[in-house]
Amino acid sequence: MKKKLLVTLATVALGATTFVTFAQEEYPYQNQIEARQALMNVYRFNLGLLGAMAKGEMPYDAGMASDAANNLFAASSMRNGAMWPAGSDMSAPGLADMTAAKPEIWSNMSDVGEKSRALRAAAEAMSAAAGDGLDALRSNMGAVGDGCKGCHESFRASD
Ligand code: HEC
Repeated sequence: MKKKLLVTLATVALGATTFVTFAQEEYPYQNQIEARQALMNVYRFNLGLLGAMAKGEMPYDAGMASDAANNLFAASSMRNGAMWPAGSDMSAPGLADMTAAKPEIWSNMSDVGEKSRALRAAAEAMSAAAGDGLDALRSNMGAVGDGCKGCHESFRASD
């Protein structure tokens, strides 16, 4: 009886381990690299909506602006350290075509953290303002854009 329970527990534990194990990767750190690039694309998508309204390419809509800004703030608040394992930069074997993350990231972690927090602060201000009209949205665009650019200039390879 006890033995059976143990076997059952072992099976459950094994099942859980299998569940958290990543799927087979086609290149090193594929899962982490895809996750951080997906996060970046969530940034781009939401910033794109705000930018289109700011430029008048899309009619201003308070609800949509607010949602996009809140999404940007939520995404920039994610603890994403696990997406950036050491050895997953573009100079690592097999990764030149898979990632644009410069090796400098890992020797300047405090600067990267500062730049992440700068984006988060700008996104927070945007989320408070975006629903208050086009002028309020526009006046926050520069800081958010600088938040992206500030990090890309140092830590992302240009194509
Ligand atoms: C703290 C640094 C940092 C901040 C802040 C940042 N990025 Fe990035 N971004 C990177 C790095 C590094 C890469 C390269 C990631 C890779 O290829 O592994 C990247 C890549 C990207 C990509 C390409 C993703 C892909 O599919 O390959 C886009 C789009 C992007 N960022 C948009 C943004 C936008 C928009 C913002 C601001 C709202 C932003 N990023 C803020 C560091 C940052």
